[in-house]
Amino acid sequence: MSLKISVIGTGYLGATHAAAMAELGFEVLGLDVVAEKIDKLRRGEVPMYEPGLEELLRKHVAGIPGSTGRLRFTMDFAEAADFGDVHFVCVNTPQRHGEYAADMSYVDSAIASLAPHLTRPTLVVGKSTVPVGSADRLAAYLAAHAPAGADVELAWNPEFLREGFAVDDTLHPDRIVTGVRSERAERLLREVYAAPIADGTPFVVTDFPTAELVKTAANSFLATKISFINAMAEVCEAAGGDVAKLAEAIGYDDRIGRKFLRAGIGFGGGCLPKDIRAFMARAGELGADQALTFLREIDSINMRQRGQMVELARQAVGGGSFLGRRVAVLGAAFKPDSDDVRDSPALNVAGQIHLQGGQVTVYDPKGMDNARRIFPTLGYADSALEAVRGADVVLHLTEWREFRELDPQELGSVAAARVILDGRNALDPQLWRKAGWTYRAMGRPTA
Ligand code: UDX
Repeated sequence: MSLKISVIGTGYLGATHAAAMAELGFEVLGLDVVAEKIDKLRRGEVPMYEPGLEELLRKHVAGIPGSTGRLRFTMDFAEAADFGDVHFVCVNTPQRHGEYAADMSYVDSAIASLAPHLTRPTLVVGKSTVPVGSADRLAAYLAAHAPAGADVELAWNPEFLREGFAVDDTLHPDRIVTGVRSERAERLLREVYAAPIADGTPFVVTDFPTAELVKTAANSFLATKISFINAMAEVCEAAGGDVAKLAEAIGYDDRIGRKFLRAGIGFGGGCLPKDIRAFMARAGELGADQALTFLREIDSINMRQRGQMVELARQAVGGGSFLGRRVAVLGAAFKPDSDDVRDSPALNVAGQIHLQGGQVTVYDPKGMDNARRIFPTLGYADSALEAVRGADVVLHLTEWREFRELDPQELGSVAAARVILDGRNALDPQLWRKAGWTYRAMGRPTA
């Protein structure tokens, strides 16, 4: 008999994981404590923009005509406990307000709500990004509070999906990492992931702390790569070098690789910034804070990029105040193919200029609703062309394909001045310069 899977938490990670598990052929029950989310998901609607996710949900959500009916949703922990042979915990662990540490309250409350209903042998699998040591603590909690006692096991199985590629990353991961304490737990996880394993996906088996650390280490490494190239951009800027060429040239070395070396306004989103901070906080608790002091520098290089973009914009409008200046901002999401504006560098730069008196107009292909919600006082336009109309300077801050395909001639005909600052190093300088624009990017020559 095939395993039945419950997924606790149906946000970014959980909704994607639940749909992917249904796609792999399992019967799946998704649980969330937010009624509005569950109502939407039952109708096959995704609460955020993620390419391919809505199609995948609609293919499997019970009650949708033509669906496999393999995916259902509930708000009832007893029902989920009764249903699942394997329970994936996919709730989020945001940064605690005013602190570096991660807020574990959603994970803790998911486990606390599930535990009293676990009356038969099951495997609870943590997927959330947590401070190392959490799995140990949660395993002890389950052993003490689940009626089935030792028959309820915990495993840790971090998730590495990227927004914008969530479906593909879940169905075709680079690797599957599992922290387990028994052969039974490993066997169950191998059964869940049989399809990707058959496709050759590496399956790494390790202990709890290593599994937890793999996730934070991977995100720290990625953040380090980005801040490294941004530091090189600062040096190139001072020395008259070209960071894009430099990144290309060092990237040909296999040991370095070309990915994640695009200089610009830096990393944002709901993961990298808060994960490196939570990692530093946890290392501090463990007495290993010295090992991670470099992450403080990674964070501060990253935040500095945003300020530098504001200064470039200031110079572009004459070097003084932004008062009375019109600034077009292309991009609000923290990255393309996402409507997520959490800790978005683009929105942060737009906000700084607005707060300094600039008249900012933002356009983003998908992030407008979320941007309006968290920054209602900014100006918003319905298209790139409208945002640029009358602008004294144009800032390209999220590298959507739509922006790369813009016609510089057309934009030039509506802008007040042909000055574009490419905060993502993603536009073609020659194309814009040929159309009479002053093109400027961080760490690159001015002409
Ligand atoms: C990240 C990790 O990649 C993923 O494995 C983990 O599960 C969650 O966190 P995500 O937050 O979706 O994923 O975004 P990612 O693609 O990593 O980009 C993060 C930020 O870095 C974005 O703001 C992006 O614009 C920026 N970035 C990326 C750069 O500034 N330069 C680069 O070269 C690459």
